[in-house]
Amino acid sequence: MSLRFDLLPPAIAEAHQHFEAWVRAAKDLNDLNRLKGIFTGRKASHLTTLTELLKQTPKESKADLGALINHLKTMWETSLTQRLEEFSSTMASPATTMDLTLTPPEIPQGAVHPIQRLEAQIVSVFRGLGYHVEEGPEVETEEHNFDGLNIAPTHPARRSSDTFYLQAHPHLLLRTHTSPVQVRVLKRLSQKNSQGITLLESLGGVRFLSPGRVYRKDEIDPTHSPMFHQVEGMLIGKNIGLHHLKGTLSYAMRALLGEETDVRFRPGYFPFVEPGCEVDVKCPLCKGQGCRVCKSSGWIEILGAGLVHPQVLRHAGHDPAVWSGFAFGMGIERIAMIISECPDLRLFFENDIRFLQSMREVT
Ligand code: PHE
Repeated sequence: MSLRFDLLPPAIAEAHQHFEAWVRAAKDLNDLNRLKGIFTGRKASHLTTLTELLKQTPKESKADLGALINHLKTMWETSLTQRLEEFSSTMASPATTMDLTLTPPEIPQGAVHPIQRLEAQIVSVFRGLGYHVEEGPEVETEEHNFDGLNIAPTHPARRSSDTFYLQAHPHLLLRTHTSPVQVRVLKRLSQKNSQGITLLESLGGVRFLSPGRVYRKDEIDPTHSPMFHQVEGMLIGKNIGLHHLKGTLSYAMRALLGEETDVRFRPGYFPFVEPGCEVDVKCPLCKGQGCRVCKSSGWIEILGAGLVHPQVLRHAGHDPAVWSGFAFGMGIERIAMIISECPDLRLFFENDIRFLQSMREVT
């Protein structure tokens, strides 16, 4: 039995002629759904029109039209479904290829080295007190490193067994502490203007911090390294006394190590301060009970300090009858070792990524 296409209304016959071409031309699901709506949709589609037509068709053609409608329905539906399957296999839909709820893989991140981080913390505490940062060279003159600091020509620290001298320039050395920056800054501030007034006088005083690397001929062991870091601090003004020094350092140590930190001042000797002192903090690990880190004493020495020696002021061109001040110096590795309970200073310089990562959480 051949199909009676002549029974189709002309508009539908025409649409059917284009059907296959339109399905091929559909670019996406939207196009396809539109075609589906026009041809086989539940409302006002060609299929519903034909079903209505069937009801009004005289008995003798009903069977023929019915057969034709069935044929068209199957054909349209099959083509549309096939095209739909083509889409889902060629177009990678995001929902099927990636799971947006998965935790992304961890990307390793760099971090500031624990020594640099602690240095920045110290600087920030003192910036809050009005200190600025001064830098000095690591290759220094004997004058800045020793003479200007009232260190006698016979002092053992000057020996070539303790200090690195430059072979080609025997008066140059790798600075053994950050204190030469005191001499440099004080000398700079002794310059006079046209009225004969020094820079220090016109500023009314000075306070600065100077972090940096220092060098000593020490054998490498868990607590010694030929290169380590210090932070120097100095304040110069008028009528500065030990109480200023004690107040400043007690405040700074608490800001750095915790509010409950006890600070203790003991007499100590450094040629460039008078009086001089050594500053201990109550061991932050055992809280003074005594442990391996504080060698059972309950206290840890972390600073050298004192009132600036008149000879240091005089050498740099200032009158010690007018000016007074205090200075202090601390070892950064030492404080970092205490805070992080790190037993071996060498770990800070070996760049072992596992150590550096573990330090990220601690300091
Ligand atoms: N420069 C001293 C040292 O290296 C520390 C210090 C600095 C002491 C300033 C007193 C005043 O040990």
